[in-house]
Amino acid sequence: PWSFFEMAPLDPIIGLNEQFQKDDYPSKVIVGVGAYRDEKGKPFVLPSVRKAEKILAEGGLDMEYAGIAGEPRFVDLALEFAYGEDSAALKEGRIQGVQALSGTGGLRVFGEMMKKHGSTTLYLPNPSWGNHKNIFTNSGLEVKNYRYYDADNSSLDFEGMVHDIKSMPAGSIVLLHACAHNPTGMDPTLEQWKELSSVIKEQDLVTFFDCAYQGFASGDASKDAAAIRMFVEDGHLISMVQSFSKNFGLYGQRVGALSVVGRDAEEAKKVVSQMKTVIRPMYSNPPRHGARLVTTILEDPQLTAEFREECKGMADRINTMRGALKDSLESAGSTRDWSHITDQIGMFAYSGLSNEQVLEMRAKHHVYCTGDGRISMAGVTSDNVDYIANAIHDVAK
Ligand code: LMR
Repeated sequence: PWSFFEMAPLDPIIGLNEQFQKDDYPSKVIVGVGAYRDEKGKPFVLPSVRKAEKILAEGGLDMEYAGIAGEPRFVDLALEFAYGEDSAALKEGRIQGVQALSGTGGLRVFGEMMKKHGSTTLYLPNPSWGNHKNIFTNSGLEVKNYRYYDADNSSLDFEGMVHDIKSMPAGSIVLLHACAHNPTGMDPTLEQWKELSSVIKEQDLVTFFDCAYQGFASGDASKDAAAIRMFVEDGHLISMVQSFSKNFGLYGQRVGALSVVGRDAEEAKKVVSQMKTVIRPMYSNPPRHGARLVTTILEDPQLTAEFREECKGMADRINTMRGALKDSLESAGSTRDWSHITDQIGMFAYSGLSNEQVLEMRAKHHVYCTGDGRISMAGVTSDNVDYIANAIHDVAK
């Protein structure tokens, strides 16, 4: 039965790791997938997570199935983390959710649920995270784009964005990156978010936030939730997916949450019941360990304070590397304007390199970034920054 199967192409982000593994060039560098590295270029486990692991190991927990919606205590804490402990909607029970298989899993459950309930079209920013389109197309939705990034000026095309939102048919879903837009690192300002909130309300759209980098935009997780909190205060009945891969460094644990704001608690509970009908035939119920780690941290004020400091530490190191990369490009002799590297926020620098230049950099210098010129700043260190800068300069001059 397999003879007509063709080899599928490598994934443009995760597949890069496979290509990189096969490269035996000694100074090779990968700045592809958005996964934090310490200053030595090594994967980093947050000390607060290590402490939580110890607490869990000593707790003698059972390994029973979680419910279809995951760990209820984790979901409560995840929602507080994003919507804020003081959120009136949260206190009224109007926000409910389920545990999700990190961002990707939550996005897919949302897509499937919306398709089942009559949605037809979802709008993504142009550009957006590479996996978004496949997730929603595979959910049966039609995926369209709205203008977002002005590549010529390395800035947000806010006018284009508002214009495109104003022409979306009522009832369409508009996906917004809650903070630290992937791949551009370019977010609307608070004033612009306010305007978006009112335009989206006028258009009567379904707002869906993808919140994968809370804590990585400003270094302060609460501040990074400003857009979400503003939309809820403005009365939007949003849905949101959260990932704990980056801020808690729990990539392989697949920890996330999918939530919804209802008109009242009853309505929100009905939506959650529908999420569960999507989850059960897809993967039954989520894994428990990562959710228990996050719960252990967020339940404990001391561990939460430590986690927040550690998350800020990661964001700070990335920002230092933004400055270092820009300086190194100048020292390498580049006369191009690289100020967008330090203007952008979050994990990535959207370098402006063309696909051709990216491929040349891979072949000649063994520096691997994604095909769209996105550089994971989390993989840049004091040891490799000059090497990367020289490679970029060589292909970009
Ligand atoms: C990325 O954009 O690099 C991350 O979100 C990881 C992934 O799954 O693509």
